[in-house]
Amino acid sequence: MRLLVTGGAGFIGANFCHYWHQRFPDGTLVVLDALTYAGNRASLQALEGVKGFRFVHGDINDRALVEKLLREGRLNVIVHFAAESHVDRSIHDPDAFLRTNILGTHSLLQAARSYWLEGPQGLISHRFHHISTDEVYGTLGPQDPAFREDTPYAPNSPYAASKAASDHLVRAYQHTYGLSTTTSNCSNNYGPFHFPEKLIPLVILNILHGRPLPIYGDGQQIRDWLFVEDHCQGIALILEQGKEGESYNIGGHNEWANLEIVRLICQLLDEAFAADATLAKQFPHAAPAQGKRSESLITYVQDRPGHDRRYAIDAVKIGGELGYAPQHSFAAGIRKTVDWYLQNRDWWQPLLGEAYAEWIQKQYVREPGGSRN
Ligand code: NAD
Ligand code: TYD
Repeated sequence: MRLLVTGGAGFIGANFCHYWHQRFPDGTLVVLDALTYAGNRASLQALEGVKGFRFVHGDINDRALVEKLLREGRLNVIVHFAAESHVDRSIHDPDAFLRTNILGTHSLLQAARSYWLEGPQGLISHRFHHISTDEVYGTLGPQDPAFREDTPYAPNSPYAASKAASDHLVRAYQHTYGLSTTTSNCSNNYGPFHFPEKLIPLVILNILHGRPLPIYGDGQQIRDWLFVEDHCQGIALILEQGKEGESYNIGGHNEWANLEIVRLICQLLDEAFAADATLAKQFPHAAPAQGKRSESLITYVQDRPGHDRRYAIDAVKIGGELGYAPQHSFAAGIRKTVDWYLQNRDWWQPLLGEAYAEWIQKQYVREPGGSRN
């Protein structure tokens, strides 16, 4: 397989590139990434200069560029991660979500169709794998069964709606034109290289800076959390064995209320500071460096509008058909993640510039208004 990885400088895309390179050190891996605020070439540093790896700075909406990359590299697989991915940003400013997630995916599908199905060489054996999310299925009540591949779509945020639209386009290109596609819908990922606007890295860095930990609403919203490497393993299995036209749910059987996750991270950091006195010198503003418990930073703020209450994934199909099972327990994955942020300040420090501070400020000026229950 010769891969075009879109969004490979983002959180999951970068982890996937490392995962794939470890498995196939001589493989062809071309990353196409627009380097938005969420894209970071530093996440791919270890691959720079490696034979078969190439980084291209560009937009998935640039169809001519995509066709050129497919042709030049004789690429026969697209793994499509590129997206605007943050629900809160989609509520503030949905335009970019429609442009990248819907129009960008469509542009990519057009390029793939043109080169793989209608190019001068005739039909080329290929695969287009689309990375999607469990958020397309909407929200669950406490007793509802987990999302299955045949659960009807009911996206609630502009982000989820734009991802649902892109899933439908992928499906339509397979059904109408015979493009060989697969789609995966995964639950919330966590791990290294995660941009610190999402819950887990935000909480870790806010503790290290002594800043409030914003809990939306009552903090009882439930997410299924999967260590990012386990998501990458699922994608690799689908690339190797997935059936054309099929969708696969990927999840961790690991449901947590937000407040409990935040408390767990607080506890892990308090323990880390207690065990290693040098941390207080490196992060003097951190709550535990000031003799306070990290939990004292928890701050209830107004809820996210339209906030989905619960996501849960039924991953029986990928388990049964492709033999998928996550390799990391949550206890091991979250510890690894906290340690990674403690040890990789060089990666995250440059991200905390003016634009980031402005975004974070918007979170703090949310009216206090959540409630403990
Ligand atoms: P991310 O925001 O960290 O990264 C997105 C990447 O796409 C960035 O590198 C960005 O520069 C790039 N990009 C954005 N617009 C682009 C454009 N027009 N052209 C080219 N590149 C562009 O996102 P992520 O968390 O790594 O998510 C990757 C994919 O996985 C997304 O499709 C997302 O919907 C899906 N997903 C994410 C999660 C999660 O928990 N993060 C869970 C399930 C599914
Ligand atoms: P997030 O990481 O943004 O992922 P998603 O919205 O895609 O699930 O948020 C995870 C959960 O944490 C979600 O229920 C919103 C909540 N949350 C907070 O309570 N506080 C925060 O500061 C953030 C970023 C999220």
